[in-house]
Amino acid sequence: MSDQMEVYCVSVPGFEAVLLDEVQQAGFSNARIDEIGVSFVGEWDDVWKANIMLRGATRVLVRVGSFRAMHLAQLDKRSRKFPWDIYLRPDVPIRVEATCRKSKIYHDKAAKQRFQKAISETIGCPIADDASVVVKVRIFDDLCTISIDSSGEGLHKRGHKKFVGKAPIRETMAALCLRACGYTGEQPVLDPMCGSGTFLIESAEIAQGMFAGRERTFAFENLATADASRISYLKSLSPPATQANVQFYGSDRDAGAVKGAMENAGRAGVSHLCQFSTHSVSDVVAPDGPAGIVMINPPYGTRISNKKALYALYSSIGKKLRQDFTGWKVGMVTSDPSLVSAMELGQPEQKIPFSHGGLKVALYQFKVT
Ligand SMILES: C[S@@+](CC[C@H](N)C(=O)[O-])C[C@H]1O[C@@H](n2cnc3c(N)ncnc32)[C@H](O)[C@@H]1O
Repeated sequence: MSDQMEVYCVSVPGFEAVLLDEVQQAGFSNARIDEIGVSFVGEWDDVWKANIMLRGATRVLVRVGSFRAMHLAQLDKRSRKFPWDIYLRPDVPIRVEATCRKSKIYHDKAAKQRFQKAISETIGCPIADDASVVVKVRIFDDLCTISIDSSGEGLHKRGHKKFVGKAPIRETMAALCLRACGYTGEQPVLDPMCGSGTFLIESAEIAQGMFAGRERTFAFENLATADASRISYLKSLSPPATQANVQFYGSDRDAGAVKGAMENAGRAGVSHLCQFSTHSVSDVVAPDGPAGIVMINPPYGTRISNKKALYALYSSIGKKLRQDFTGWKVGMVTSDPSLVSAMELGQPEQKIPFSHGGLKVALYQFKVT
């Protein structure tokens, strides 16, 4: 059996090109965009690296095989012949997720049960609803394609965020937004509504070249293919926090959020690069030195009654940016184009729509002139 497999880095829909840029920069030169994100052909070592290093991928799936099944008896037979022992361990619980489309086998639950039974009866591993190892089966046009979720917990969980504020942006999303705004690790970043500090911690880690997954565990560590010493070596390649020439500035009017953001930055090992303060966005002072990027994710309530207050808030954000942040780039995540217009920053240079917590939002980019 070849060591080369199709590896899928799942993307936030809308950000595929941004993720492709990151995946290629990380050294996976054969990567390309496909229907669920970015895929490349690689070995297990590449799967470990992708999980540990990438910041924008939601999770990393590994395609391990496929077979045709026209009916459940055939699925039973073929799933029992599948070489599960190459990938799964008899002592590690698993669960199967199955979807059927345009196939003679149309019942997701039946397919899932048959696969789970085949796996537990051939190699003996327990089946558990909360298992961290997930086998994903997609039955399309009578072809069963089998993938293993190598990540386990979503990759936005970096392993050091304990304080979670109101409506935090996911770390993976924050990293994609930063990259989409042209952040390279060399510009200062300021978030005047920083909440739990996600944009700042991501940007400070990127500036240091730290790996996103240096401090967490992954499902791939519990697979039969794991090489524990190689995996811990790969995690250890993440550079330690040192001094850097750039600084990251966070503020919020909520003192509790600022305290939580500082603690999160401390756990991530980047607090020496971050300056936090408690005040309203209208009292933000532009830092001395070169212009950088303002990343901002203001409240964008959905209730009509909030609208008036929100227009006033967005208008004051726009006023502050126009007055004091000439030359800076602005990356704003919000839902309502009319709130964006209230900032009077002109036409956005770029708009990337995406879904955030089930709500349609977009990343708007401006240059303050
Ligand atoms: C959507 S949350 C930002 C979440 C943040 N990006 C994170 O990842 O945790 C909006 C934040 O704006 C803050 N905020 C609301 N009005 C503000 C104002 N006038 N000045 C400063 N911060 C404000 C809230 O306290 C809240 O933390």
